[in-house]
Amino acid sequence: MAILVTGGAGYIGSHTVILLKEMGQDIIIFDNLSNASKEAILRVERIVGESIPFVQGDIRNKDDLSSVFEQYDIDAVIHFAGLKAVGESVSKPLKYYDNNIVGTITLCEVMAKYQCKSIVFSSSATVYGDPETTPIKEDFPTSATNPYGRSKLFIEEILRDIYVSDTSWKIVLLRYFNPVGAHPSGTIGEDPLGLPNNLMPYIAQTAVGKLKTLNIFGDDYDTMDGTGVRDYIHVMDLAMGHVKAIEKIAQFTEVMTINLGTGNGYSVLEMVKNFEKASGKKVPYTIVPRRAGDIATCYADPSYAKEILDWEAKKDVYTMCKDSWRWQSNNPNGYKEDV
Ligand code: NAD
Ligand code: UFG
Repeated sequence: MAILVTGGAGYIGSHTVILLKEMGQDIIIFDNLSNASKEAILRVERIVGESIPFVQGDIRNKDDLSSVFEQYDIDAVIHFAGLKAVGESVSKPLKYYDNNIVGTITLCEVMAKYQCKSIVFSSSATVYGDPETTPIKEDFPTSATNPYGRSKLFIEEILRDIYVSDTSWKIVLLRYFNPVGAHPSGTIGEDPLGLPNNLMPYIAQTAVGKLKTLNIFGDDYDTMDGTGVRDYIHVMDLAMGHVKAIEKIAQFTEVMTINLGTGNGYSVLEMVKNFEKASGKKVPYTIVPRRAGDIATCYADPSYAKEILDWEAKKDVYTMCKDSWRWQSNNPNGYKEDV
């Protein structure tokens, strides 16, 4: 019996594969490498000390998927594959709906055909829109302000409908807060294409000298120092949340919707200070106007994950920064050959 990890060459997928292998699980990585590199898989193999079956394919392609289900005895899927750039999703909505939604439908059709009905899905805290209060609980209202977020909401609803039609499905929707950090080896980590959209890789690339100045999007929010507050979670803690979900999935008798966050909010300026301390480098910054669509404060109530999965985040913000820095400083060009 094996677990299929779609998007397993990507940032969160690659870290999760390591923990799953360490727990003795058989894994198949399925990825079209649209936002990942084969090098990431080679490095994961080096960390775990064995080779891992990898299929280069697209979740929208039934033949690609069917050949994997023909070849391997797959009993669960962890479904990371998806496009995630919020800004790009606004300019190319159909690309996002096609990749994320059509891809997930195709995946579920093939799973059903092969009687594999257990899936852990990568959802996002973005489905809470601009919450009225924090910390955010799973039963808060949902909304979306961009096609990326809407694709996550639609997929959640599609998966719930699948369950209503056939209650033998086991479905876990994991709503991630802000994943950061890297494997402690410093050999794998987040490697965004082009200019980073997210705070942590932007800070790390500024600290290493690839970028000149961090733009801080607004210092006039109603927060402790005026900058945006988020729930940053170490990617290894997040990965462990998936291991727990897979371990418990057979017991679930309803669709499970679970926040994966730490429960702590940090401002942009606090993150900059922590990163400077962890790296010993200065992170020059400029305050610029707010970024459209951003909210002031977002952090999880993670108590349901503790109750249901017996999981809680363990790594603090300093460790997140330290591990991000180790990855960034050892690999200034990410997985690309040093130039
Ligand atoms: P990532 O881009 O590093 O990983 C996604 C992987 O999926 C990539 O390796 C990419 O090549 C692959 N992929 C994309 N479309 C595919 C397709 N059609 N067929 C096969 N493979 C495909 O992103 P990540 O940060 O590891 O995120 C993983 C998942 O978690 C995504 O679904 C993302 O939306 C979700 N998520 C991420 C964050 C975050 O901030 N990183 C937050 C919340 C949710
Ligand atoms: N920020 C800056 N400068 C930057 C980048 C970000 O000041 O260059 C600020 C933002 O304004 C925000 C905070 O840093 O206050 C975090 O921003 P990110 O872009 O890193 O993260 P977001 O919370 O905006 O969104 C991320 C993902 C979404 C996901 C969400 C919740 O991009 O896809 O986390 O999981 F839905």
